[in-house]
Amino acid sequence: MIMGFSGGSVVPPAVATAILLLLGLAAAASAQLSATFYDASCPSALATIKSAVTAAVSKEPRMGASLLRLHFHDCFVQGCDASVLLADTANFTGEQTAFPNANSIRGLDVIDTVKAQVEAVCTQIVSCADILAVAARDSVVTLGGPSYTVPLGRRDSTTASLSLANNDLPPPTSDLADLVGNFSRKGLSTTDMVALSGAHTIGQAACTNFQSRIYGESNINAAYAASLQANCPQSGGDGNFAPLDVATPNAFDNAYYGNLVSQQGLLHSDQQLLNGGSTDALVSTYASSATQFSADFAAAMVSMGNIGVLTGSQGQIRLNCAKVN
Ligand code: HEM
Repeated sequence: MIMGFSGGSVVPPAVATAILLLLGLAAAASAQLSATFYDASCPSALATIKSAVTAAVSKEPRMGASLLRLHFHDCFVQGCDASVLLADTANFTGEQTAFPNANSIRGLDVIDTVKAQVEAVCTQIVSCADILAVAARDSVVTLGGPSYTVPLGRRDSTTASLSLANNDLPPPTSDLADLVGNFSRKGLSTTDMVALSGAHTIGQAACTNFQSRIYGESNINAAYAASLQANCPQSGGDGNFAPLDVATPNAFDNAYYGNLVSQQGLLHSDQQLLNGGSTDALVSTYASSATQFSADFAAAMVSMGNIGVLTGSQGQIRLNCAKVN
């Protein structure tokens, strides 16, 4: 309809400019999330999510880590659109069998419970993508981390992508340059990357994800490597896990960075942040300043939560997070 502004167009240039301006404004407005998005439409949404998440994390602290990671795995794959939650069916392949997700992501059942409780108070108002963002924040807070306001108004995708999940989620074998590039492709800075990696102050990793580090790398504390080897043989070891933060495994604090200083990063990618490269100084800062880490982590979570969001009339509000309406 707005085609053919040039010669022979039935739309005068001034009108065309006005239309383009309006379209531009509409696009900008729809890309905008708002902290008060559900204040009128579902005033109890945030309290409902918080109580369900707090209950789940109190029952099992690791669940806080699993919910935080779900939001990350959502946002890095075609944006924060709850695509990670779409379950495979006979004629639909989602992201859950991608290498970083298979036998690894947890908390889908908790999200289903939260969603059911939210649907019970407001039918088809609150998106699964927003539930993931709020659940991540509430998990961090429940485990003692910083609070921050979560901008809201994301909508849910009708698609998912196995190949993007395999390509865009960083593997634990990543070197520093890979990590910087991976986050930069999502519009996140190196500071965001270092601060967000602090999420590894909670939760666990499977033996297969740190095996080559504890048997083959030199930038690891010898006693730490030996203690990990006791539960993670050189081959096999499926089903064995170790805490990502050896110091305070269930507390959301800045101990992760102190671990890096003492060469006790669990994953190869963790120790890359303090290995003689450009991020060493920031790791030292976070190791000595919990306040700086908290502020940067909170800001980076908000930035991550903005990646590729669907808003306005895009996508849908799923009734069941595991499937398209
Ligand atoms: C910087 C690049 C990153 C890499 C290479 C990476 C890799 C990994 C790996 C391999 C695991 C263990 C999975 C398993 O063994 O099942 C893991 C766990 C985890 N990741 Fe990351 N991750 C990264 C960034 C992030 C970010 C940005 C967040 C959140 C903001 C995050 C949150 C977590 C959490 C909380 C866990 C523990 C989950 C649980 O215990 O269920 N990670 N990550």
